[in-house]
Amino acid sequence: MTILVTGAAGFIGSNFVLNWLDKEDGDVISLDNLTYAGNLDNLSSLLKNSRHYFIKGDIGDSELIFSTLKKYNPTAIINFAAESHVDRSISAPDTFIETNILGTYKLLQNTLLYWEALTKKQKQDFRFVHISTDEVYGSLGKDASPFTEEDRYIPNSPYSASKAASDHLVRAWYQTYKLPVITTNCSNNYGSFQFPEKLIPLCIINAINNKSLPLYGDGTQIRDWLYVDDHCDAIKTALRDGVIGETYNIGGNTEKTNIQVVQLICKFLDNLKPRLDKISYEQQISFVKDRQGHDRRYAIDATKIQKELGWQPKETFESGMEKTIKWYLDHDEWIKNITSGDYKRWIDKHYL
Ligand code: NAD
Ligand code: TYD
Repeated sequence: MTILVTGAAGFIGSNFVLNWLDKEDGDVISLDNLTYAGNLDNLSSLLKNSRHYFIKGDIGDSELIFSTLKKYNPTAIINFAAESHVDRSISAPDTFIETNILGTYKLLQNTLLYWEALTKKQKQDFRFVHISTDEVYGSLGKDASPFTEEDRYIPNSPYSASKAASDHLVRAWYQTYKLPVITTNCSNNYGSFQFPEKLIPLCIINAINNKSLPLYGDGTQIRDWLYVDDHCDAIKTALRDGVIGETYNIGGNTEKTNIQVVQLICKFLDNLKPRLDKISYEQQISFVKDRQGHDRRYAIDATKIQKELGWQPKETFESGMEKTIKWYLDHDEWIKNITSGDYKRWIDKHYL
């Protein structure tokens, strides 16, 4: 079995490729156009792995996608490629429309061309797994039930609107052309290799560099956190056992306010790498201007994938966070390489 993984040099894509090559058989073709968020360092441990091939390319490049599919004959495509940062989608939505909507459309079209030419058996075995987000369901009220697969799509940010559009395209390619797709909608991930513009790595790295830990607004917004390797296992489960045309919500049942998340980071760091003055890192927390249109709460009801496919997360929030923080503390060089160039420009502009 050969799989094509798009967005493979990003946070979740790289964790997925590493997880697959470690635990599964078959080759992996990693495709990524290496935007600011794509980082080949994430895949550097695979340099000598004969089961792994990397292709620098855009999911919107029809010629490249079609020729890659013909050359490697994958039995599945796992589509992680996307612009993924809500704050960037607010200040510069163009690339979100280009990659998340137009790029997904081109990828689907070329996959369809490839799939239609397969034998009957190959067609039956093939899967296109589209990785999406819980943010397509909008923002939950304080006492509302977590999102199920039946909930309406009510996206609020340019990011979530573009992901919602891509989910609709994926659905349409199944309903209209019978392309065998599965869509997964996951809650917020955390873990190794996450680009430090997102809350958790940003706060870990800022804390140890004696910078402020910026909480938007009053810091009481809620996210439902899942350790990235649990997400990867859920995707593999959906690929293996999921029903074609279905969508699966994935989440860790771990709702936390942003303040709780940052306080937990501080608590771990106070033990693992105490400040020289022995004062808690919590004193670095600062409340900053809120995000425009900031969704207050996300929460996932993952009953369907748990009951129908038997997936369960392995990590608790505490165990996953401890692993994550230790990973960042052990990866100075990775941090040094990533926190230059575009990253510095973004931080300087966004947190004036
Ligand atoms: P990321 O930004 O870290 O990685 C995205 C990767 O896609 C990068 O390597 C980037 O270079 C690549 N890419 C962007 N545009 C491309 C294009 N046109 N062609 C080829 N490659 C391109 O994002 P992530 O956090 O790893 O998210 C991966 C996927 O999972 C996204 O689709 C995202 O919507 C979804 N998701 C993320 C989370 C989360 O918490 N991070 C939660 C649920 C779903
Ligand atoms: P983020 O990691 O950007 O993920 P998403 O917006 O996709 O949920 O943000 C997680 C939460 O943390 C969200 O409520 C916004 C908040 N946040 C801050 O309070 N400060 C920050 O500097 C960042 C980046 C995010």
